[in-house]
Amino acid sequence: MRLVSLTLRNYRNYARLTIELQPQLNLFLGQNAQGKTNLLEAIAILALSASPRSRREADLIGPAAPEASVEAVVDGAGRRLELALKVAHGSERTVKTIRVDGVARRAVDLPGEVQATLFWPEDLNLVKGGPEHRRRFLNEMLVQVVKGYGRTLASYRRVLEQRNSLLKRIAGGLEGRGSLPVWDEELAALGSRLVEARAGAVSQLAPLAAANHGAIAAGEPLEIEYSGPPAPLGPALAASLEEDLRRGSTGVGPHRDDLSIRIAGSEARSFASQGQQRTAVVSLKLAESDLIEARCGERPILLLDDVLSELDAPRREALLARVGEGGQVVVTSVEAEPFPAALLERATVRCISGGRVEPCG
Ligand SMILES: Nc1ncnc2c1ncn2[C@@H]1O[C@H](COP(=O)(O)OP(=O)(O)OP(=O)(O)O)[C@@H](O)[C@H]1O
Ligand SMILES: [Mg+2]
Repeated sequence: MRLVSLTLRNYRNYARLTIELQPQLNLFLGQNAQGKTNLLEAIAILALSASPRSRREADLIGPAAPEASVEAVVDGAGRRLELALKVAHGSERTVKTIRVDGVARRAVDLPGEVQATLFWPEDLNLVKGGPEHRRRFLNEMLVQVVKGYGRTLASYRRVLEQRNSLLKRIAGGLEGRGSLPVWDEELAALGSRLVEARAGAVSQLAPLAAANHGAIAAGEPLEIEYSGPPAPLGPALAASLEEDLRRGSTGVGPHRDDLSIRIAGSEARSFASQGQQRTAVVSLKLAESDLIEARCGERPILLLDDVLSELDAPRREALLARVGEGGQVVVTSVEAEPFPAALLERATVRCISGGRVEPCG
């Protein structure tokens, strides 16, 4: 998978930008607040059809309202695609339109066209943060590799909301239990599909994450394990009904899943150092890119935002060796200094300043 060119218009701090990318290593240098993360975010949006950073899509629109656009030409699976995503302030809400080769596409059906794996500093929440960050990691990977996963996830969320409001109405005596089985059956069917996809992905991911982590951290073991309900979900849902009614919400299902992450046998969130946590997250992300390659036959575009901070020299070196093994990589950094000369020679290096990309000088 390869990004050939990218055009941004009125997107965050980019008034207008067109860049071409080389097939391997693209390095963008820039001081703080110049647009490095914004650039990688734009590419990730084309893979996920939504920003991994902002829930409010209006945030993407620059000062020259009413519209922001991200367009790209991509080579993948032996074919070239043109993608265009626009976000506009509407009279009542933000409107997003997506086109693939000029043909309109629903947002839920875009992921899978361009595969990308993004690491950025916020991803440290994968280890440090709550379980929602780990579920999000799994979802962002799975929408790219499992056909229909995004639709199943959206339907699951809708049905869950309906069931929860029904539970509250039953508990409040406003409604009987008669309609509950219909919702339970649907929730169990959709939830089981999500759980199966996640459990399958994590068992494939675990050895890949361990291999990446071992290579970067001098053999230190990393273990990841999926902790979710067993599929099919029906029996667990039935067993929690009385408690669900008391609480007015659904206590079991993939919306409560988690992923346990252990370094050398200890829970990473409580015991790992900053550098160890960062190494674990980077290893998980590299494992994601390995899994995407194994399932789709091509390496995803690897987007690495400020990835070397907090890593010592041996870890940096091992990470960069792993990253340089193949596929297209887009890396951002404040400085060129941590990158070895041999890598800088192979890379196309450009500088970002105030939303403009220029030769470094
Ligand atoms: N919708 C928007 N319109 C205009 N500017 C925006 C918008 N959204 C974000 N920005 C600005 O874009 C600038 C660059 O942000 P970005 O996160 O890309 O910086 P960065 O180069 O990654 O910096 P750092 O090295 O600190 O991570 C910020 O100053 C931010 O305020
Ligand atoms: Mg940044």
